[in-house]
Amino acid sequence: MPATKTPLDADADTDAPGDPAVPPAEAGTPPAEAVTPLIRGIAVLRRLTEAGGTLSPSALERATGLARSTVDRITTTLQHMGYVRLDGRDVVLAPPVMALGNAYLAALRLPALLDARADELADELDESVSLAVADRDGIRFIHQATRRRAMSLSFRIGDLLPAERTAPGPLFATDWTEPDWTHWRARRAADPEDGEFPAVPRRHRTTTPESEDFVRRSALAGTDGYALDDQLIEPGLVAVSVPVRDPATGRVVCAANVVSHTSRHTAADLRDTLLPRLREAVTAMERDLSEAPRLIPGPPPSDLATWTTASKHELGRDFIESLARGLTVLTVFGEGRAALTLTEVAKATGLARATARRALITYAHLGLVTPTPDAHTFTLTPRVLSLGFPPLSRTTLPHLAEPHLRALADGVEEWAGLAVLAEPSTPSEPESPAPMIQLTARATTPRVLSPDITVGARLPARSTSLGRALLSEVTPQGYALADEELESGLRSIAVPLHDRTGRVIAAINLSTHAARRTLADCVTDLLPALTTTATHIESDLHTASRFTPIPPT
Ligand code: PHB
Repeated sequence: MPATKTPLDADADTDAPGDPAVPPAEAGTPPAEAVTPLIRGIAVLRRLTEAGGTLSPSALERATGLARSTVDRITTTLQHMGYVRLDGRDVVLAPPVMALGNAYLAALRLPALLDARADELADELDESVSLAVADRDGIRFIHQATRRRAMSLSFRIGDLLPAERTAPGPLFATDWTEPDWTHWRARRAADPEDGEFPAVPRRHRTTTPESEDFVRRSALAGTDGYALDDQLIEPGLVAVSVPVRDPATGRVVCAANVVSHTSRHTAADLRDTLLPRLREAVTAMERDLSEAPRLIPGPPPSDLATWTTASKHELGRDFIESLARGLTVLTVFGEGRAALTLTEVAKATGLARATARRALITYAHLGLVTPTPDAHTFTLTPRVLSLGFPPLSRTTLPHLAEPHLRALADGVEEWAGLAVLAEPSTPSEPESPAPMIQLTARATTPRVLSPDITVGARLPARSTSLGRALLSEVTPQGYALADEELESGLRSIAVPLHDRTGRVIAAINLSTHAARRTLADCVTDLLPALTTTATHIESDLHTASRFTPIPPT
């Protein structure tokens, strides 16, 4: 009689012939207890992130070295979790995957405490300001307050840069021990062009002479208390950084950076004119840290992973349960839950201790989780931000809404749209102009008679359902109708979209021809799908905007 299979054993049959035990980029022999499907799933998320968020299944096959059938099962599992979606044949990262990076940022607590100061400084200086943490011999951004300029900077939250090509790097290196320096030298020798850092252009000696000087720059940073980046990443890009210390321990917890380009400031200029203001802001940040109330952790989540069993029943061998369960382990960390014991992780996920332990061992091997020095608790590392966060942190509401509008329009076979209230177009418009809306996304259907309204179009708010939903002319049931007011034959129904604070920021609608549906039909036939779509868009928006603003247009 065969022994009863555990969920982990059941996943062993997802191995396809020829699959490497570990994808090449995750090399390094994993401990015997590591969960192979979890290592592979993480590899897929990382390759997608490095590629900017989209890869075809065959490109994923090449990038991970896994067999196509394995890639497909991983993709199905991630899709079921909402972490990726399929766009045609392409696999695309989806906003719910940001829950992983959010868990790290919430547990770290620095963004919640310091982002507002960084944003204020950016406004005051009219320069980009960022916050970065040390990630081994790299630096990783945890906040970006970017100026919208013609010549704008492109680093995103979660991007990893080699320490020696940045301003914060020398500040973090003041804490390095000899093994850290040895590790750094080995990395430089193995990867002389910084190919392992997809966020930065390849290194050329001619453009980055100072990168050879890192030891000296780090020693200087220790005495000066600041460091400069004089075009180490790219010609024209300059930055100045100051360490932010935890007042309780004196340890550097992150660096605050002011970033500009040489047509506005030289590096010396940044030091002479903006460094004093940066230092004042950092003093205020350190005061905020010392005054931050101790977090009283709320009730921990419980039984997060119970849904995985149902999914396994539904999807059978296409659903890799140990991958889904392993990923839920990352999401139990958060605000007030920065360091968790194995027992706490097992309880929050609902996983058996042995399963939770194997997931933690796997993550420790991958550098995503680190045991605290006493080895009793575990914390997330900044590397968790490499799981989907950077490409998605630069999304916009129209971009995020589009796949949902597409599914809605396909489902009910009607035209779907997204709109915001428009700013008055010219200063010469009358004092209180009639409010206008602007269409920011749409999904059409192959009907002969359908609205001919393109993205960017401005329409009078009061005669459209979208405008009425935006102006809170909605009924107590939460929707707005428009019946041939804009054009005869055009009938539509709209619902508002809310941001994390509950404010109405946009609206979505479905439009039909009056001959196809009565107003009552619109409510009974279209409203349920419209409302469900609004819930999905809001859910994505709330996840995506937890640590970075998502522009409504
Ligand atoms: C950035 O925030 O974009 C930044 C910060 C420090 C650097 C370079 C870029 O050295």
